[in-house]
Amino acid sequence: MFKKEIKKQKKIKSTKAEKPKQLQSPKGMHDILPGDQIWWDEMRKISADIAQFYNFSPIETPVLEQVELFERSVGTSTDIVEKEMFTLKTKGGDRLVLRPEGTASIARAYIEHGLSHMPQPLKVWYAEPMFRHESPQAGRFRAFHQTGFEIIGGNIDALFDAQIILSLHRFLEAANIKSLTIQINSIGCKVCRPNYLKKLINYYKDKTKKLCNDCRNRLEANPLRLLDCKKETCVPIKADAPSLLDHLCATCKDHFKSVLEYLDELGIIYTLNPYLVRGLDYYSRTVFEIFSDASPLALAGGGRYDYLIELLGGQPTPGVGGAIGLERVIEAMKAANLKPNVKFKPTIYLVHLGDVAKRKSLKIIEMFRSSGIRVKESLGKDSLKNQLRSADRERANLALILGQKEVYEESIILRDLDSGTQESILISKVVEEVKKRLR
Ligand code: HAM
Repeated sequence: MFKKEIKKQKKIKSTKAEKPKQLQSPKGMHDILPGDQIWWDEMRKISADIAQFYNFSPIETPVLEQVELFERSVGTSTDIVEKEMFTLKTKGGDRLVLRPEGTASIARAYIEHGLSHMPQPLKVWYAEPMFRHESPQAGRFRAFHQTGFEIIGGNIDALFDAQIILSLHRFLEAANIKSLTIQINSIGCKVCRPNYLKKLINYYKDKTKKLCNDCRNRLEANPLRLLDCKKETCVPIKADAPSLLDHLCATCKDHFKSVLEYLDELGIIYTLNPYLVRGLDYYSRTVFEIFSDASPLALAGGGRYDYLIELLGGQPTPGVGGAIGLERVIEAMKAANLKPNVKFKPTIYLVHLGDVAKRKSLKIIEMFRSSGIRVKESLGKDSLKNQLRSADRERANLALILGQKEVYEESIILRDLDSGTQESILISKVVEEVKKRLR
């Protein structure tokens, strides 16, 4: 008896050991399950509506790009390129990276496909996943989605800066996010920025001992980013640093003034933030970020990039754009107890009872297909209660109930799920009747 028990325990142990480890999605990367798709439908709908209204055409680029693309555009001394890229080497020896952002890819595509020959400026939009190897925390993920808008080519016109900011702002308004603030700055151009940087370096050079490690490195590699430091040690030093806005050349000043005038005209409220420089090196002149009261993390950001196309080997071509972090928008909506606004189309649900009805069910659904009416079902579920429960979950408005009796009589029961009333209708007439009710 005792031996038998030991044998049994051993058997249990060995089956336990054989059970494969449960796998999980990679750190900072999330599944979007069916129940959450309603939020993403809402994001896709708002993106497409805004793009259509402001005349942006969709564009898609590969999820993998050459590492060099981001080294040359975003910049080798930025956090994104230095610390956050998911890179891989192909068997052929190519260095590829999961794209950390969309603008550089679009600039590459613009040059590669000669898009400068299309009517200018080219206005494109995208809604795609991006990848950055960051420390995951609320609102900061390793795989996340952005909707972005870019205007490339044409003149360097402040109207385009304003239209980008307007599109992003309208997106966030459509998501019902309240208390939006736009922070805006100009970081100058090739003419005025070098002068400013000299002054900035001069100001910081005898304060290095008081700076954090990152800022000491920035002073060498990317001095403009000194203005971005939020560490306690560096903030007071930054407060007395020369201001970028005071060192803009006349052209940059005019451009910035013009952008602000457009925003004033549109009634879009903004705050000047002379410390806003952004974490990507390709920007020139206007830079901005949009926040809501709910979170210290930006919901959207962007700016002008008049040297990017040239930097990547194209003709000198101006550009301006911005992108929204969709996970952050959904989080902000959930935090404010907002619900997705997606309008449900009236839904019809087919309920079948018994084998004879089950056999007929696919044919009934096909009758509706030719009329463009979608019929939901839970084919394979047998009980009426379960099927009606799923119909309720799907927020169906009408149920078609088919039992054995109905099949023999070539009829079907049409039940209005809102009022609970029902009637028997000939199968040959049911599509017309449903169409009438949906109207
Ligand atoms: P960005 O500021 O790096 O700009 O990203 C834009 C938005 O993406 C952010 O405001 C934020 O909402 C979201 N985001 C960024 N990183 C994460 C993350 N780790 N987790 C969740 N959300 C995140 C760009 O990417 C530029 N390409 C924008 C642009 C377009 N500039 C010109 N055109």
